[in-house]
Amino acid sequence: MRYVSLLAAAKINLYLEILGDRPDGYHELAMIMQSIDLADKLEVRTSRTQIIRVYCQHPEVPKDQTNLAYKAAQLMAKKFPDAFAQYGVEISLQKNIPVAAGLAGGSSNGAAVLVGLDLVWNLGLTQSQLQQLGAELGSDVPFCISGGTVIATGRGEKLAPLSDLDHLYLVLAKYKNLSISTAWAYQAYREKFDNTYITDTVILEQRKKQLNSGGLVKAIAHKEGGQIGKLLYNDLERVILPAYPQVAKLKDEFIKCNPLGAMMSGSGPTVFALAESKTQAEEIQEKVKTKIADPDLQFWIAKLNSTGMKIIQH
Ligand code: C5P
Repeated sequence: MRYVSLLAAAKINLYLEILGDRPDGYHELAMIMQSIDLADKLEVRTSRTQIIRVYCQHPEVPKDQTNLAYKAAQLMAKKFPDAFAQYGVEISLQKNIPVAAGLAGGSSNGAAVLVGLDLVWNLGLTQSQLQQLGAELGSDVPFCISGGTVIATGRGEKLAPLSDLDHLYLVLAKYKNLSISTAWAYQAYREKFDNTYITDTVILEQRKKQLNSGGLVKAIAHKEGGQIGKLLYNDLERVILPAYPQVAKLKDEFIKCNPLGAMMSGSGPTVFALAESKTQAEEIQEKVKTKIADPDLQFWIAKLNSTGMKIIQH
């Protein structure tokens, strides 16, 4: 049996702008994605029989074809039938990233299985080949393979790395029983705002370039936490915050604690506050915990991270 053990990092969005529609039904995006050190642990093992099996104790994580880790193994089995004919796949997943939370937890698991199978099946794929496979699984999967601080455009799969940003901390909070489907969030946005979508391809390219030369990218280059916090932006807040007042209130309570900035990540409902130190992140967490005394509200302290995937044993 061959095996590899990996840490698959969650992400937050520092910026998420919805530019327009795409012929494939997805949205054209301009984003800045950031890995954080909240991570799931996966073990990818070969087995003697030609099966794919996912083991996970978490009650909300499916073990079947609907799990992105399972789908990633299926995709690899299809692309590399000779390797699969020799070795099946067993995946053990220790889930720490909250599910359907806007933190790319599922995507990071899919990414880890691609990287893991490349190693245990000895395929020798390049990062770019793995990312192309990842794009077939989900828009955030290519980013989860490389991680760090990255401008992501297209569906989210076209990546341009920025300088590392790993000195800042954050506190994340999510209501345990509230999950939001990404597909629903984008559809709700389309229903409300499709009249603002950019259709001119020249203007579309200009908007992507604007992000490249804009204040947030400069603040990242200079590691200016205060500026980064001020320039956080997420279009999906425009549909999620009115639909879920408890998420809007959570964000307000974070802002009252004077963090560097606070925002919902991705399609939510996780909200995060950016802090310049672990102590500041912990103080914010304590204040918000006291203000919203709801046992359903869960918190995590994390640090920004310069890698998406970490191989811990091979
Ligand atoms: O790519 P992924 O499967 O993660 O996307 C989930 C859903 O989010 C898609 O089915 C689509 O409805 C929406 N989406 C979108 N535009 C993107 C990314 C995701 O509309 N760029």
